[in-house]
Amino acid sequence: MDFADDPQSLSDRVKALGADGGRVLIGIAGCPGAGKSTAAAWLARSLDPEGRRAVQVPMDGFHLANAELVRLGRRDRKGAIDTFDGAGYRALLERIAEGRDETVYAPAFDRRVGEPVAGSIPVFPEAEFVVTEGNYLLDDEGPWPAVRAALTEVWYCETPEPLRLERLIARHERFGKSPEHARSWVAEVDERNAERIRAGRERADLIVDFEALAIGTPEP
Ligand SMILES: Nc1ncnc2c1ncn2[C@@H]1O[C@H](COP(=O)(O)OP(=O)(O)O)[C@@H](O)[C@H]1O
Ligand SMILES: [Mg+2]
Repeated sequence: MDFADDPQSLSDRVKALGADGGRVLIGIAGCPGAGKSTAAAWLARSLDPEGRRAVQVPMDGFHLANAELVRLGRRDRKGAIDTFDGAGYRALLERIAEGRDETVYAPAFDRRVGEPVAGSIPVFPEAEFVVTEGNYLLDDEGPWPAVRAALTEVWYCETPEPLRLERLIARHERFGKSPEHARSWVAEVDERNAERIRAGRERADLIVDFEALAIGTPEP
């Protein structure tokens, strides 16, 4: 397992993985609020600022819809591993990995309404680098090992715990939770998921502390 220590080395590493002309799929795993989406956006931009040759595809697009979570009795556990369509995510990644003859549309997650939105992100045939990110990319059950197998490398995004928790609580508040609800949600829901996610750290190809690398501009 490697540790990254400068931003340039990360984009160089990805470019080297694509030296044979094949499509490179990089996964970024990590706990809620660790900075995965921010890191993935930075990496995709640094590989291609225009967004056709490098694209960010979030695992969050495979959140089940809120109405389906209600049907399953899991609305109050959103973010747990069984609240995602993991098999759908796997199928999308395999499709992206296998063919470059058509545009593949990926779903996004709209944090303002808390729902996935199909057909939001075009992965163009000329996309050489696909950066995907989410909680369970290194999990070892169900469809997740096949997700890992579809990816060229998976990195683990590590952030000092006090900072991660502070940002996670602030994000919940920004998207409508009261300070009390934000704290209880983090303690009762997000942290249970974090425990499971941490167990995958040892399976990562690379550990990256993006905070230490100071990559700049955050996701909302
Ligand atoms: N380098 C940074 N500086 C300041 N805030 C950051 C930075 N990286 C992430 N954040 C903030 O922390 C929160 C979590 O980041 P995000 O990328 O959404 O994490 P994840 O996708 O792992 O849940 C976001 O609200 C984001 O604005
Ligand atoms: Mg995210």
